[in-house]
Order: sequence, then structure tokens, then C-alpha cells
Amino acid sequence: MSRDDEKRRAARAALRFVADDTIVGVGTGSTVAFFIEALVERRVRGAVASSERSARFLGERGIRVIDLNEVDDLSLYVDGADECDGALRLVKGGGGALTREKILAAAAATFVCIIDPAKRVDVLGAFPLPVEVIPMARSLIARQLRARGGRPVWREGFVTDNGNHILDVHDLRLTDPVATELDLGQLAGVVTVGLFARHVDVFYTITGAGPTCLVPSLAGTPIYERTFTPALQDVMQLVFVELRGNRTATGDIDALTFDGMVDDLEGVRRALDLGRVAVLGHSAHAMLALAYAARYPQMTSHVLAIAGAPGISAARAAQTALYWELVASSERKRILAENRARLTEEVLARLTPSERIIVPYAANGPMFFADPTYDCTPLWEGHEQISDRLFGRFWGPQGQFGAFDPAANLPNIVAPLFIGQGVFDFAAPPHAWAGELEKLPTATYRAFERSGHYPQRDEPEAFGDAVAGWLKQ
Ligand code: 5RP
Repeated sequence: MSRDDEKRRAARAALRFVADDTIVGVGTGSTVAFFIEALVERRVRGAVASSERSARFLGERGIRVIDLNEVDDLSLYVDGADECDGALRLVKGGGGALTREKILAAAAATFVCIIDPAKRVDVLGAFPLPVEVIPMARSLIARQLRARGGRPVWREGFVTDNGNHILDVHDLRLTDPVATELDLGQLAGVVTVGLFARHVDVFYTITGAGPTCLVPSLAGTPIYERTFTPALQDVMQLVFVELRGNRTATGDIDALTFDGMVDDLEGVRRALDLGRVAVLGHSAHAMLALAYAARYPQMTSHVLAIAGAPGISAARAAQTALYWELVASSERKRILAENRARLTEEVLARLTPSERIIVPYAANGPMFFADPTYDCTPLWEGHEQISDRLFGRFWGPQGQFGAFDPAANLPNIVAPLFIGQGVFDFAAPPHAWAGELEKLPTATYRAFERSGHYPQRDEPEAFGDAVAGWLKQ
């Protein structure tokens, strides 16, 4: 798919938010141009534009352009972005419209950001950060930006719709965008910083065709986009949802709770107006999917728990350890020991916080993958916002996933349930469900004989066929 096709697809996906007879906030840029082209298919009362350019484009397509001052209630704002990180913070303003964009994002009840996958980055800052400044303060602010480690470049010859100048700030690594947005925003003469660190309401990527299925994640969506898309794109329409930044979540890890995420998933479903959905959870996220199905039975058409376990307990951990001891081959154990031996303190000390999660995970590959020598690192590319803090809060011994209580939740699941496990999955082995299945009359259980923790990747065809067959029942 070409870059323009990706932009068009993202733009068209936003159409579902546009209700008839409403006024829509419309941003600026090439992705938004595709949105405006598609918007003519809807019967809107008019649009508020974030730039003269978009206003012209709207007018040429017969869409009435309305001044924001005449609008009491703007329900929706749709715009692109230049970069988006794993916690859904944005850099905007490549087109120079950042001030009006921020005003519209603040005015609208819902801000829908439409981006193609190339805009997803690990850490914001590779795209120079646009800062709109009052012309007389340009040099003063440039000096202050340099003192903060940035390399501001004046966008010479460009004057914003508000009569101001833009400094594009290179060489910033925006690891704390909220703090930077606040810090730069208070410099005298700065009109707007092109960081949108707190304004995204709904974030998802969508692929495939068929019944809609939500795929929640807490550690970024790329690994699921990479592994579930080939297996299921002909079977279901997959909506990948990163719960760290959607609905009530602000991206602050410490504020996320298991219960809150279940509700936020429902918030995403409602915001997207999806009707009844399937929900698929992989690994620990299986508990999120099960909790969603238990709490929102009317909304859940199907539930899929892949490579997960029904709950967390010391007894289950002991069973898992025993499975590894008894079932794993000596070769598999040797490879694991060798991989781990390479992870010396010195090696670990050189890693970034997210690498400190991913590198040991890759070293533990013999416990997760059917091929014990498989290097899974490429599957995790783009997952830069994961850290010990995130893992401690959710996956650790006292982690939030432990809030899922199988006894309280499983009896409330009425939707058909598909449980899939890989035989070589030593993290969530096939017997994880033993003892629970008889309590689950709606469950279909399937063990994948040549799979580890990712049956959707190890046996994509068998996995896709199994899910397709189950959906038809
Ligand atoms: C304009 C913006 C745009 O949303 C951003 O530059 C993305 O543009 P495009 O869709 O052309 O890639 O912030 O100020």
C-alpha cells in the first residue's frame, strides 16, 4: 500500500465519527485533504477550519466554512500529525497551522487524529518541533531553545495565518512531552508549541474485513498488528487499541488500573460506534478481554483468549515451572541458559529502558517460541514506551492484571469463547485452562501443535482457519 493509500485509509476511517447535521472541526495537511474529499459523502452543516488552506479546500468542495466564534458546541475535530509516540502524544505543525489546531483540539469534545503508520515513532523529536513565535521575540526564543539543547531553525519566508513566525527545533529528544509542552509554552513570545501531549481521545489502527474485533494492548500495538494481521485479516476487522492513552487514560502509567482499562475499552467501542464487537486478548491481555466480556455481555459478540491464562496465582506459576521442567527438551533448556548467560550486568547497563524489557524477552525466546532459536526482536520494533515501571504495575507479582478474578468473571461470560494455546508456550502452557473449561459452557478450546506463545504467528493459516470455523458455528 502506498503512503497516500495509507493516508486515505486513515482519513476515511475518521468518517465514522461524523454525524449528519453537525459542524466538524477540520485540520490541515495532506491526510486531512483526503478527509475533506471524503467528507462530501456526509451531510454536515459546515466545518471550522484550522487554516486558510483547509478553509479554501472545504469551500471548493461546497462545504460551508464557519467561524469558531459562531459555534457553541463543536463535537468533533479531525486532524493529522507529524509524529505520534507509543503513549499517543503528538508533534504537529509541519504545515504551520499549529495554533489554530490546538484551539480546535481544545474546543472539540473529541479530537480524532488520523495518521499513517510512518508517523508512529518510539520517541518524539526526529521531526523538528514547530514553535510559533511573535516575530519580535524570534531571536530571544531561539536563544532560549538553544540553551535547552535544541537547534532552532527559522522557517524563513513562512508567515502563519496569525501573522507569526515558526521556529523548527531540531535535535530534541522529547521523552517527557508533557513537561516540554509546559516549559516552552510559558516562554514570553511563544504563541504555541507543536506538542500535543494531552489531547488525544481515541487512538486505534484498523485492518482486515469481517466482524469487528477489538484487540487491546498495554505495551504498544505493533507486535499485535504484525502477528494478528496476516492470520486474521480475511476473517475479522481488527481494531488495535493502545489503552495507555485512550479515553480516560492520560498516558500516566501510575494512573492506569485494570478496571479503568476495561471501561476505557468500552469507551473506545462507543466512540467508534461499533455496535457489538468481538474482543481478542493475547497473553495477559486475555484477562482484559475476558473481563470486558463479563462486564459488557450485551456488547460482546465473541471473545478470544489467546496464549493467556485464567488469572494469576502462585499455584499457576508453579504448574508453569513444572511444565517447563518436564516438557521442554534439553536442547531448549541449553539455548535458554546460553541466552541468559549473555545478559551480563554490563550488557544490561548499556540498554535503554525499553530495551531492558525487550532484550531479556528475546533471550527468553525458548520459553515463548516453537523454534527455540527464533529471534523475536523485529516483532517488538517500535515498542519504545515500555519500561520496568509499566511491567511492574501490570505484569509484576502485585500487578494490576492480578485484579482479574476468574471465579467472579468467568461465570458472567455468555458470548462464545475461543481459547487458543500453543503447545510450546511455556509462559502460558496448554494446561493453564485445565479445571476451568468445564465451568465454561460457551468455550471452544484449541491447542496448536506447532506453536509457542504466538500461535497466530507460528501457524497463521491454522490459526485463521480455526477462528473462521469457530465464528461460523
Ligand atoms: C499541520 C499539521 C499536520 O497535521 C501535519 O503536518 C501532518 O501533515 P500531513 O497529513 O500532510 O502529513 O500539523 O500543521
